[in-house]
Amino acid sequence: MARITASVYTSHVPAIGVAVDQGKTQEPYWQPLFAGYEFSKQWMKDNKPDVVFLVYNDHATNFSLELIPTFALGCGAEFPIADEGWGPRPLPTVYGHPELAAHIAQSVIQQDFDLTLCNAMKVDHGLTVPLSLMCDNPPMPGGAWPFKVIPFHVNVVQYPVPSGARCFALGQALRRAVESFDEDLNVQIWGTGGMSHQLQGARAGLINKPWDNAFLDRLIADPAGLAQVPHIEYVREAGSEGIELVMWLIARGAMADVAGGPAPTLKHRFFHVPASNTAVGHLILENN
Ligand code: DHB
Ligand code: FE
Repeated sequence: MARITASVYTSHVPAIGVAVDQGKTQEPYWQPLFAGYEFSKQWMKDNKPDVVFLVYNDHATNFSLELIPTFALGCGAEFPIADEGWGPRPLPTVYGHPELAAHIAQSVIQQDFDLTLCNAMKVDHGLTVPLSLMCDNPPMPGGAWPFKVIPFHVNVVQYPVPSGARCFALGQALRRAVESFDEDLNVQIWGTGGMSHQLQGARAGLINKPWDNAFLDRLIADPAGLAQVPHIEYVREAGSEGIELVMWLIARGAMADVAGGPAPTLKHRFFHVPASNTAVGHLILENN
């Protein structure tokens, strides 16, 4: 059977991708941030998944105000790197796992979550920056990512957005879906975006370190309680873009302890301010 072995949580700031692509990771501004992911890159090599189920949000790149799916599952065989205005990042195409994605669609929709199915979609910094943080960028041309990726988009851009409680319940449904797939696959689930940031308006530049660190504490130890936090608290305390953090609750909901299993092991925790306009947070939790 397929197993969810671990969950990974990380910010996805687009400027991080630019720093990687332009060879700036050792510059004084960026070095402390990338140092926080050195453990993670080694951990990825030591715990190589077959598939990463990558929860992220599209930033009006593939979708637009013409079409706003709340939850969109990438069912295709490949997902090209989007052009976000400066040409596509020099990264390999992301290859999906259509068989597992089709099984997840069947299982999760039968568990009453109405997913949008995407057989073709381009992926933006929400998905590519976490890959660049967790893996060395494959050499181009000719390189490939070391695992398959099933992209899963959540609307956190245009209100109304899904609640933390809905995201946490969806994670539980995803776990049941993955663990009923009849093939021996090592699957990780990643929750991306966040942490506190506001890119617009009078509070642009808002960062709230105490709130972010309390979020990390509760995500580890009290995810069901954290899932009850309403939207308005994210917006008030973590800024208008801090709402991206609800995506982390999807990954957390898919962990074994939520279904009555043993508590996960915290393998890595990192927090750094700032990267561009955000606080950067990162966790790795392993299932036991
Ligand atoms: C920034 C952060 C984001 O999450 C994003 O999607 C775009 C920009 C930033 O801090 O610049
Ligand atoms: Fe974002």
